[in-house]
Amino acid sequence: MKGGILIIDFGSQYTQLIARRIREQGVYSEIVPFFSAEEAIKSKKPHGLILSGGPRSVYEVDAPSMEPSLMEGRPVLGICYGHQLMAKLLGGRVTGARAREYGFARLEVLHREGLLKGVGERVWMSHGDVVEEAPKGFKITARTENTPVAAMENRERSWFGVQFHPEVHHTQGGEMVFRNFIELSGIPRDWELGDFIDRKIKEIRETVGDARVICALSGGVDSTVAAVLISRAIGDRLHCISVNNGLLRLGEFEENLRTFREKLHLNVKGVDASRRFLRALEGVRDPERKRKIIGNLFVEIFEEEAEKIGKIEFLAQGTTYPDVIESAGVKGPAAVIKSHHNVGGLPERMKLKLLEPLRELFKDEVREIGRRLGIDPHFIEKHPFPGPGLAVRIVGEITEDRLRKLREADRILEEELRREGIYGKLWQGFAVLLPLRTVGVMGDTRTYEEVIALRLVQSVDGMTADWFLPTKDFLTRVSSRIVNEVRGVNRVVLDISSKPPATIEWE
Ligand code: XMP
Repeated sequence: MKGGILIIDFGSQYTQLIARRIREQGVYSEIVPFFSAEEAIKSKKPHGLILSGGPRSVYEVDAPSMEPSLMEGRPVLGICYGHQLMAKLLGGRVTGARAREYGFARLEVLHREGLLKGVGERVWMSHGDVVEEAPKGFKITARTENTPVAAMENRERSWFGVQFHPEVHHTQGGEMVFRNFIELSGIPRDWELGDFIDRKIKEIRETVGDARVICALSGGVDSTVAAVLISRAIGDRLHCISVNNGLLRLGEFEENLRTFREKLHLNVKGVDASRRFLRALEGVRDPERKRKIIGNLFVEIFEEEAEKIGKIEFLAQGTTYPDVIESAGVKGPAAVIKSHHNVGGLPERMKLKLLEPLRELFKDEVREIGRRLGIDPHFIEKHPFPGPGLAVRIVGEITEDRLRKLREADRILEEELRREGIYGKLWQGFAVLLPLRTVGVMGDTRTYEEVIALRLVQSVDGMTADWFLPTKDFLTRVSSRIVNEVRGVNRVVLDISSKPPATIEWE
């Protein structure tokens, strides 16, 4: 990064959202934890800074802070904790609030012709402390019932602060805060996804030179977009490998290969290793052991295939920005998800350099790049699918027959989700096979068969999720189709757990 806006993270759960809002305004932005701010400012030379919110109080011992001199000569926008920190560092006064403000508040705007132009009355608050007195040189531009300085600005120096959260969609006209900040501070708008493709292709050519690159295609959006981008740069010197681990959905391996070859013109080798995987998983019930076996075997196969290709210098991966953000908060689920994704130690073992062209992008930006590269919308909008595949959706032992049941049920669910127009509204919608049999009746006969659970969730990033409630008609249709069409299943249940405390996958 050079230029753009650097977001100093003080641990807010909304920090990634700030970065996305800034990018939507056509300005590049990155996040650094507060303890690396000085170094990052030196190396990245940002046009402006945003100080994020955070869970602490500026008066606590060891409260996260920064050198005030880092603000000198630069436009700065403080949000929530960042607003309070600015006030404190520049000589204002912050105190404990009379009442904690959480949720909607009515914003009384005192000066409209500045940062708050176009911002509505309803804003989203989440804080304990308040700024009582703005620092010298600042004008108070808004207040709420409980917050005397809900917004402040020093136009001469392009320093601004808001107590509310303009980045969350609950705040009416919140995006205007970012737009006004950028305009009032004269920060150039030069981030455009269209340029990204050309810039990356050039960069990949320079980095790779005449060497060869290898890439594992999982069938997911990220690795596919990365591969198409790289193949635009270096053509068939990108060698893709698509492994069938026997744990994919119905017909998926063949369908993916067709898409990769015929539509995306990738140089790809399909390796059907399903027998090897299923043999290795025989009798295994423990989720972590399943993951390990699958991960290790994948590496083994990938290495065998790489050897057949000959000399390779780079390993391409579809790593995205949320995977690489170093968070100032406690290490949350993000860290865990990442460890799932990584093909443990592969680059080191194979002595390969990493090529990760999507490292700067958020998921929605990756999808947009995919569309611009001509990848089918149907493919781009696919739900995420875990690396260990159906193994973590079959609770208990994995057998051919249990795989068949889950595949058939999952296909029915997907068909109905698409038919009903729900598919696109969900982060994920899938079936899970439970490790128990229950009694049922069919005609005059008693049955004793397995149970399918339906998991339908909405989420922004997979780190938290809400369960989704479809209509009774929809559930009735899915349930009766599964029981009627899938041999060996006589009961369907709906998972009504959110994340946290549950996870999205069952294992
Ligand atoms: P959980 O189940 O942890 O999942 O709430 C969060 C998101 O990550 C996906 N997931 C995985 N992806 N390998 C992956 O590539 C894995 O082992 C794995 N486990 C979970 C999950 O589908 C959800 O989108």
